[in-house]
Amino acid sequence: MNDYRKAGILVVDFGSQYVQLIARRIRELHVHSEVCPPELAVKKIKELEPKGIIFSGGPSSVYDTNSPRIEKSILKSGIPILGICYGMQLIGQLAGGKILKSGKKEYGRTVVSFKTTNPLFKGLSGSGVTWMSHCDKVEVLPKGFEIIAGSGNTRAAAFCDIANKIYGVQFHPEVVHTVGGSKILRNFIFNIAAAEKNWTMKSFIENKIQEISKVVGEDKVILGLSGGVDSTVSAVLLKEAIGDKLRCIFVDNGLLRKGERERVKELFERNIKLPLTVIKAEKIFLDALKGVTDPERKRKIIGHTFIRVFEKAAKSTKGVKYLAQGTLYPDVIESQSFYGGPSKVIKSHHNVGGLPKKMGLKLVEPLRELFKDEVREVGKELGLSSEITDRQPFPGPGLAVRIISDLTKKRLEILREADWIIIDIAKKTGVYGETWQIFGVLLPVKSVGVMGDMRTYENVLAIRAVTSVDGMTADWAKVPYHVLGEMSNRIINEVEGVNRVVFDVSSKPPSTIEWE
Ligand code: XMP
Repeated sequence: MNDYRKAGILVVDFGSQYVQLIARRIRELHVHSEVCPPELAVKKIKELEPKGIIFSGGPSSVYDTNSPRIEKSILKSGIPILGICYGMQLIGQLAGGKILKSGKKEYGRTVVSFKTTNPLFKGLSGSGVTWMSHCDKVEVLPKGFEIIAGSGNTRAAAFCDIANKIYGVQFHPEVVHTVGGSKILRNFIFNIAAAEKNWTMKSFIENKIQEISKVVGEDKVILGLSGGVDSTVSAVLLKEAIGDKLRCIFVDNGLLRKGERERVKELFERNIKLPLTVIKAEKIFLDALKGVTDPERKRKIIGHTFIRVFEKAAKSTKGVKYLAQGTLYPDVIESQSFYGGPSKVIKSHHNVGGLPKKMGLKLVEPLRELFKDEVREVGKELGLSSEITDRQPFPGPGLAVRIISDLTKKRLEILREADWIIIDIAKKTGVYGETWQIFGVLLPVKSVGVMGDMRTYENVLAIRAVTSVDGMTADWAKVPYHVLGEMSNRIINEVEGVNRVVFDVSSKPPSTIEWE
């Protein structure tokens, strides 16, 4: 069996919003890619023996004192390097060139002409549309480098030191707007770096199973199962790796949708053929959340409470040392900042940023490098039914982040009933399968209505529906008016406490999918 993590591409993250996209593009070519912050690059190179390295873009300027840096020795490692945007400027500076603020900024669509005899641009036509987003540019080339592309505004839109296989592009080949971008990445990955095609879902599964059994050894693992595709796929991988040393636990935190506990237990035991222990912890969670309105505090309290419940459960079974979770790459990315600044922490996903600092259990997270759609593929490869792989995501903090105020049993009940109607109609009309998520959000707003000649003063409920590939970006779903109308009509008629329904028409960014 080959080790799919070896002979791939290491992506060094300098703070780019596109870093996950780069990793993803590489995996789509069946090559393994891993993302690391610059300070871990040397260590990761030793561990992974990558065939190539990509330096991502980033928001900093190389001449700023606090801009992210990297060991200069990496340029001399003999491993082919491709720098993108900030990555190119950093290469330029480290190799002895000069980077200056650009007189004219270049954002978005920019036509670039390429030297097509260069291996990076092989197969491209002489010029094409690229996607730029930069304020700085390479003004003086380092010794040994030549210009291989230019735009109207940027003389060195790409450069290379061909002898040492070091390349830099000022534009972003990873975004779909750059015509021929995937060809450029392919040229670098296969023709220049000679990376190996080790990454397939099958090799990922084989390696993960082996890795888990090696790490866990004779110890036992409890797995926090939510019933979603991530934790279910994690459960199957663990079952294959450690058999009956796995104990799956479903925590009813009181923040679930209508009938969820029973539905998940039945679905899991029928499909996965493993027993599922249900822990009823509604009171613990609701007590801890009493009076809390701040979204980050809610998330942290929920993350901590989950761990306390799991730790207690672990104590009742001898030999449990690990907690398995279905954490995904976007959970990690949105919950933490590589550079310690608060600006990049979008929200603390309960299973990453919401974890307490001190934990009595070690974590096993087999899906930590993947995006949701990749996990769905792993699930299919493992033989899971579409009943599981096509389930819409439901966040760990559940309805708590969909009630935009403090939680009460009454508010939870209202949202539960409204959400049930939304899902029911979405499934009947096919909207469920066409959206990434569709759900209700209870707003902290009351409005006046009239029902049966009587004045009402009740809650407003929002319908949120989005389309997305991986949850990192999303567009509001164009749900047909008649479907929205049916939802609104039934909610107002059937759910006591709601007299107005609105539809959320915001994309991510600048909004997020969940309201909190
Ligand atoms: P946002 O709201 O960040 O959501 O645009 C992106 C995707 O992640 C889900 N989500 C979570 N999932 N724990 C989870 O397991 C969390 O804390 C969490 N927060 C958001 C969300 O439902 C969407 O699919």
